[in-house]
Amino acid sequence: MSEQWPASRVATGRSGVASPPSSSPSRPALETLDGLLAQGPHGQLDLAFIDANKDGYDAYYERCLRLVRPGGIVLIDNVLWGGSVANLADKDADTQAIRALNAKLKTDERVDLALFAVGDGMTCALKR
Ligand SMILES: C[S@@+](CC[C@H](N)C(=O)[O-])C[C@H]1O[C@@H](n2cnc3c(N)ncnc32)[C@H](O)[C@@H]1O
Repeated sequence: MSEQWPASRVATGRSGVASPPSSSPSRPALETLDGLLAQGPHGQLDLAFIDANKDGYDAYYERCLRLVRPGGIVLIDNVLWGGSVANLADKDADTQAIRALNAKLKTDERVDLALFAVGDGMTCALKR
């Protein structure tokens, strides 16, 4: 969420979230998420969208899942990774990170799951 975008300010104002997350592009996502968790209380966000470095996806997912409310959604982009997740000969680190998260989510009882084959693949995890 960027403070440069008026729509995000309006949305956060309406949501009752006191201070929108800092959006400094130089701040590592993990720091941002851990900062939000440290601020507490968590388990209140409606939606989290993950679309950054792939080797961080699992860590981002775990934190986003704590940040969203029951019934809230974690969206994860690029989960098909151009189709390479299905090519087990592809041992690229990013591919393996996404493949591992996909496998983990398939049996993750904390969420209800849908994978949309749109764009590069989008997972929708609804927190139970
Ligand atoms: C594919 S783009 C996401 C674009 C964004 N979803 C949008 O629609 O504007 C990935 C972005 O994540 C940022 N990024 C990559 N790794 C990051 C990290 N560890 N922490 C924070 N941002 C990161 C990149 O700088 C890049 O801007």
